[in-house]
Amino acid sequence: MAEAANALKPSHPRPSMTQRPSSPEPLALWSSVDRYYEELLIPPDAALAATLRASAAAGLPEIQVSPLQGRFLQLLAQALGARRILEIGTLGGYSTLWLARALPPDGRVVTLEIDPRHAEVALSNLKRAGVVDRVDLRLGPALTTLPTLVAERAGPFDLVFIDADKTAYPDYLDWSVRLARSGSLIVADNVVRRGDVADPDNSDPQVEGIRRMNERIRANPRLRATVIQTVGVKGHDGFAVVRVEAKA
Ligand code: SAH
Ligand code: DHB
Ligand code: MG
Repeated sequence: MAEAANALKPSHPRPSMTQRPSSPEPLALWSSVDRYYEELLIPPDAALAATLRASAAAGLPEIQVSPLQGRFLQLLAQALGARRILEIGTLGGYSTLWLARALPPDGRVVTLEIDPRHAEVALSNLKRAGVVDRVDLRLGPALTTLPTLVAERAGPFDLVFIDADKTAYPDYLDWSVRLARSGSLIVADNVVRRGDVADPDNSDPQVEGIRRMNERIRANPRLRATVIQTVGVKGHDGFAVVRVEAKA
């Protein structure tokens, strides 16, 4: 036990990359590690940087996935050989850009956004990045645009990324399963919320939304899932990764 506890403590002096003497206050350890891996693994990219700059300048909330999380989504899409991707919650198109770049030229990301201002910023970002031809942005409440996608037979989607209003996550899960095939992956962002999801005293509607989605995952024999907790520049959160299995 003592050994396990010690394993959590660094036994060596902190590497210099975690020392930021010029910062007004020390960055949290996990943010330093995130930055270290970001600098190591994610080459500077003009289109991604411009997307973040333009989104911030337009006053959009800075709640997009981190660079390493964007890369994670991209790797999943590539591993699946995804040609059709569905995203629920576009914001400024930052995660959309990561996903679009995982697609072959004839692939498509359908991305759903309720806020016309977010959609406008996203389209401008995706155009600048040269991927707008691979993106189909649907403006409106996702609970309206999702049934339209079913009616259009727009699926099946190989990968779905759920990242909009958390209270509707249970419904987004159901629509995602309808729009999936066996073997599709559904990834849902923000399923940990600094641990709130596991705090029985927390009855915040967004947290309840995540829990109700989780119950539906458990109740659906076609779904096999795990959760990856994340710490980093976005604090403590996590992704649910759900695979749609063949019908029994
Ligand atoms: N996936 C983005 C971040 C999305 S933030 C990224 O990582 O870059 C969540 C987005 O969902 C916001 O832009 C918000 O306007 C949108 N949203 C909220 N409620 C929605 C709804 N009912 N339908 C569609 N989009 C919604
Ligand atoms: C927040 C983060 C998200 O990834 C999101 O989808 C919504 C909100 C946040 O940090 O508040
Ligand atoms: Mg999110």
